[in-house]
Amino acid sequence: MDKLETLKNWISESSRIVAFTGAGVSTESGIKDFRSVDGLYNQKFEYPPETIISHSFYERNPEYFFRFYREKMLPLGFSPNITHRVLARWEAEGRLQAVVTQNIDGLHQKAGSQRVHELHGSVLRNYCVRCRRFYPAEFIRDAQGVPRCSCGGIVKPDVVLYEEGLDQAVIEQSVMAIRRADLLLVLGTSLTVYPAAGFLHYYRGNRLVLINRDETPYDHSADLVFHQSLGEIFSKL
Ligand code: OAD
Repeated sequence: MDKLETLKNWISESSRIVAFTGAGVSTESGIKDFRSVDGLYNQKFEYPPETIISHSFYERNPEYFFRFYREKMLPLGFSPNITHRVLARWEAEGRLQAVVTQNIDGLHQKAGSQRVHELHGSVLRNYCVRCRRFYPAEFIRDAQGVPRCSCGGIVKPDVVLYEEGLDQAVIEQSVMAIRRADLLLVLGTSLTVYPAAGFLHYYRGNRLVLINRDETPYDHSADLVFHQSLGEIFSKL
């Protein structure tokens, strides 16, 4: 049987699918990923992007941080693509248990997914660091320089920066979903950023499927690997 047929069979036999997603899921919506040849981390900036989106850099140089964040990381106005939509459909059909995502773009929810665990936060949530008042993403987009709350505090995106820890509740929900999954689909992620990538180890089943254009360090431990574009595969599912 060919690989796509096997995948289709596994999907139809599953009721606790978990999708573990990365930036590659959103490239077909027009949002650049980080590590592809034309990804964010292969562009030239004054500092390495991993430095700019670190907590200490944010503290040291908030003006630069917000300029970069606004230009490069605030993906507003994009629409979900076929992959987001199929995952949402499977959840509605009772086939998919959860999406665990490293993405901060909110596109899974925009496509209709309800149970989305956002390991790295979301650009759609922003809080004043002083009084905790909530602000929408448009506020950050439209602010000049460092976005300030009416109380004077900085309004910080609820996005996990390098050097910051992941939210404990989100970790627990993600681990639980992955542990209980009968089929784990790992989609569009280079699997190079920890602790997120390590979550795969919690999967106990024997149907680990990896769909990613480039090779990943986990290819050898997957039960089915596709080095193809997600749109190409999900348009057939
Ligand atoms: P990466 O940019 O590291 O990896 C994206 C992967 O998706 C690449 O290996 C591509 O080959 C693949 N890809 C891109 N478009 C695809 C498509 N249409 N179909 C199939 N595969 C495709 O992104 P992540 O693994 O998500 O963290 O990166 C992990 C974390 O690194 C991000 O969450 C972000 C970043 O630093 C934070 O910002 C905290």
